[in-house]
Amino acid sequence: MVKSITLRKTGPLKGELTPPPDKSISHRSLIFCSLSKGRSRVKNLLLAEDPVSTMNAMRALGADIRQYDNEIVITGTGLHGLREPEDVINCGNSGTTMRLLTGLLSAQPFFSVLTGDSSLRSRPMKRVITPLSMMGANIYGREQNSLAPLAIRGNRLKGIEYSSPVASAQVKSAVLLAGLYAEGTTTVVEPRKSRDHTERMLPAFGANLKVDGLRVSVTPVDELHPQDITVPGDFSSAAFFLVAALIVKGSEVMIRNVCINPTRTGLIEVIRLMGGSMEIMNERDVSGEPVADILCRYTDQLKAVDVPEELVPSMIDEFPIFSVLATQADGVTTIGGAEELRVKESDRIKTMATELSKMGVEVEEYPDGMSIKGPVKLRGATLQSHHDHRVAMALSVAALLAEGETTILGTEAVDISFPGFYDELKRLSP
Ligand code: S3P
Repeated sequence: MVKSITLRKTGPLKGELTPPPDKSISHRSLIFCSLSKGRSRVKNLLLAEDPVSTMNAMRALGADIRQYDNEIVITGTGLHGLREPEDVINCGNSGTTMRLLTGLLSAQPFFSVLTGDSSLRSRPMKRVITPLSMMGANIYGREQNSLAPLAIRGNRLKGIEYSSPVASAQVKSAVLLAGLYAEGTTTVVEPRKSRDHTERMLPAFGANLKVDGLRVSVTPVDELHPQDITVPGDFSSAAFFLVAALIVKGSEVMIRNVCINPTRTGLIEVIRLMGGSMEIMNERDVSGEPVADILCRYTDQLKAVDVPEELVPSMIDEFPIFSVLATQADGVTTIGGAEELRVKESDRIKTMATELSKMGVEVEEYPDGMSIKGPVKLRGATLQSHHDHRVAMALSVAALLAEGETTILGTEAVDISFPGFYDELKRLSP
């Protein structure tokens, strides 16, 4: 159902917030527990549309996944116990589901088909099909095997060493999942470090995985062992409130239980370069991930920044909300080396440039990024989410500063990663 929301300029955001559970860790918990032999428990799994796509897929492949009040219990099939799905697997809007499963299914002794919504069916799949084909996978898709639906005829695979042209955790994880079944060693070398949840989690399940800087290698083991996992809060969801607190005058928000894995928190470093104020408190470990509480306060002296290219992978999902932050910083903020943004749930360079300019922002688009001139007095407008959850939430934060009313069309997209987003916004900025 298509939804919309109308928002007005708000007073300060005050109070505490616990963001929803991490989406990347939720997908991996579902897949790795389903591949383990026996019963795993997952607390605080994200029950939003994307991980539910993964949950349904793993059920279709034979895992027994049950939801209780405060945990999910997964009885895995074992590494070699998945069964041929009876129907096409629908990955919805979820690139992580489709790419990780393409790696896994390439190595299974059966046939499977993966499809998704119109956004996912237009996103590049060659990036996983190329290395998996080098391992011996048989994957067919539209437009010369580059777009979903993908038909996979599972096969015996052999290990490769693959230098990925993109820093992508989805590519890395797809190849490593295939590597769990391949003959010999499978190695992925990245140009820059992408999020490392797979590398942190798989060894705990008993996988034989080694990390050496940008190289990650895996060799097969007989079985993975079930685990008890607690999923920490998602930094990428927290980021909307972190930025809202920085730019809405007088705000002070405590964001609790956030995963601050350094492969995810480039935004914190960039905010510091801009002169923003945040305190990271109560650092602790939760299921092998660093977690903290973050106290965020309004800052009236944000300076523009040239985002260092080496930080791009660690803030790749935060660019929609970062572009809103840049509208309030003094000077011209530039983003470069971020062409990956063009192949996310929407073309996030184009969608943010188009929508922010409707609010009166001077934005220039480049093939690999954008520049944004600030500070701007934003004007209310009618905006489109482009069915992209992070675009919808970023524009909603911009609306809190805009003169007049802002209507955002297509807000049902927030359910992909943050179903309670508007309730939390209302609660913190009544
Ligand atoms: C993800 C990896 C990133 C990210 C996506 C989740 C993951 O994509 O943008 O939201 O869970 O592995 P890429 O691997 O394409 O960079």
